Amino acid sequence: MKQIQIAIDGPAAAGKSTIAKQTAELLGYTYVDTGAMYRAITYKALGLNIDLQDGTKLTELLKETSIELKPSPKGQLVFLDQVEVTEEIRSKEVTANVSVVAAHANLREEMVKRQIEMGKHGGVVMDGRDIGTHVLTNAELKIFMSASVEERANRRFLENQKRGIHTNLEELMHDIALRDKLDSEREASPLVKAKDAIFIDTTSLTIKEVSNKIMQLAQERM
Ligand code: C5P
Repeated sequence: MKQIQIAIDGPAAAGKSTIAKQTAELLGYTYVDTGAMYRAITYKALGLNIDLQDGTKLTELLKETSIELKPSPKGQLVFLDQVEVTEEIRSKEVTANVSVVAAHANLREEMVKRQIEMGKHGGVVMDGRDIGTHVLTNAELKIFMSASVEERANRRFLENQKRGIHTNLEELMHDIALRDKLDSEREASPLVKAKDAIFIDTTSLTIKEVSNKIMQLAQERM
């Protein structure tokens, strides 16, 4: 069977990573969480007190930085310069600043180069904001997933609750809407649906329903 490329894009907290992870597992494919890569460089820049508006400096920093995504029974682990930062990159501070870092065109160019390399042999499920439009532009299957802001905030709220993290629903809704705005309105590869992507509104669908739909679409393309 053909080892295809699957690109999953969409706004924050649309359920992309849950679905992408599951699809990769079911197919025995590699899962690449590109958001984790932008989060990792943001985490490093914050630690070094680098001006997040300085795209040139951030790109130089990225060029000398190693970011690795490694599968494990606990899920995908993220390594920054050989140190595990899987949990650290999900902090409030990183989440609040990552879209500013990800808006720099020169930094994105370097990230996209790495991601193209990671997906070039196929057998990959990659999720992000620009995968169908700039990274896996010839992917056999492109999905654009979304859900209402209320539903996405609610899902994130329940997910946090399960992990023992207390969050405020109103605050989550505000943060998600702000990140959507920054990601959609930036000049460099903004969040848009690729022309050949299939749109899935997950507002009233269960994870299982979305997963089944994507598996069916993937199998038709193998
Ligand atoms: O997917 P996640 O919410 O972890 O992504 C964090 C941020 O990284 C996004 O809000 C966006 O600003 C940026 N990002 C991006 N392009 C990608 C993946 C993520 O700009 N392919």
